[in-house]
Amino acid sequence: MKLAIVGVTGLVGSKIISLLEQRNFEIDEFIPVASENSVGKQVNFNSKPYSVVGVEKAIELKPDIAIFSAGSEASLKYAPLFASEGCYVIDNSSAWRMDETKKLVIPEINANLLSKDDRIIANPNCSTIQMLIALAPLQEKYGIERLVISTYQSITGTGIKAVKQMNNERNELDGEKAYPYQIDKNCIPQCDIFTENGYTKEEMKLVNETRKILNDNEIKITATAVRVPVVGGHSESINVELKTDYELSDIINIFQNTENLILLDDIQNNIYPMPIQANDKDEVFVGRLRKDFSCPKALNMWVVSDNLRKGAATNAVQIAEYIKANIL
Ligand SMILES: NC(=O)c1ccc[n+]([C@@H]2O[C@H](COP(=O)([O-])OP(=O)(O)OC[C@H]3O[C@@H](n4cnc5c(N)ncnc54)[C@H](OP(=O)(O)O)[C@@H]3O)[C@@H](O)[C@H]2O)c1
Repeated sequence: MKLAIVGVTGLVGSKIISLLEQRNFEIDEFIPVASENSVGKQVNFNSKPYSVVGVEKAIELKPDIAIFSAGSEASLKYAPLFASEGCYVIDNSSAWRMDETKKLVIPEINANLLSKDDRIIANPNCSTIQMLIALAPLQEKYGIERLVISTYQSITGTGIKAVKQMNNERNELDGEKAYPYQIDKNCIPQCDIFTENGYTKEEMKLVNETRKILNDNEIKITATAVRVPVVGGHSESINVELKTDYELSDIINIFQNTENLILLDDIQNNIYPMPIQANDKDEVFVGRLRKDFSCPKALNMWVVSDNLRKGAATNAVQIAEYIKANIL
């Protein structure tokens, strides 16, 4: 098993390393890859130092699996080159997600779609992954009519540059900026760039990726994505209108029995999910469950998860584990 991480020096790349270590993913050869700026830098894997290589060198080494977290441009350019050498590419960027020939995979929901012919596999957007861990069982039991989503997204979702920007602001230092405005002590109602319809790309990812993964183009979805000065994970307020009536006790029962979903919902004791608890955890947390008294078939919920873990690294490593166990 030769495994490459492309984007190994980034926020997601370094989480992938620690997850592979924690989950005892057995590797014969580890290939750390980043941009030309990082070639020769040392990274540690299982307490052993490795030198970062460039993309061309990594392709020559013919990895069995390459987990990409180096942005869309690098994925579009290099993923097909890795794939043509027989490598399974798991891509964290948005480059391939809406390509009809590529599978968009959350292992708990649809890993069974994967076959040996799927050489480039797309990891969904972080906000989509955590939301669908909670929503997929509701779609299965009741059907979903409409979703109204508001996100409160961690700065770690924008990469190392954003974390540096906030730390600089907190320490009153100048430096490169990831956002057009100060993020510390602020909320920015813009995640990613605006599209022609007035929504941001991040908002449209929630719409399009949800429909693709749940295999249902009829679900009505509207979203507002907001960047907040938080590090532990993304939070989402979700209003879900189901196709049929429901009992809150049944939803609680479903959530208690959903893989990798943890229900934290005890308002008497002020218990609900928060990014500070989700930080560095692999699970998705759900709480603040309540009937929407303005719409009989609708339910309100609050979903939190570490965007660097289940939103990116954990999901990608789970796909790698599936490929290793079922396809290679
Ligand atoms: N952060 C999140 O929550 C999250 C969640 C889901 C998906 N993603 C996606 O994951 C990707 C990486 O995100 P991040 O937050 O880890 O970003 P980041 O901290 O900025 O790291 C980017 C990584 O990509 C490498 N890279 C850039 N251009 C490259 C090239 N041409 N060839 C090889 N390596 C290259 C960088 O190498 P150098 O250090 O050498 O520049 C670095 O290792 C993005 O596509 C992002 O959309 C992020």
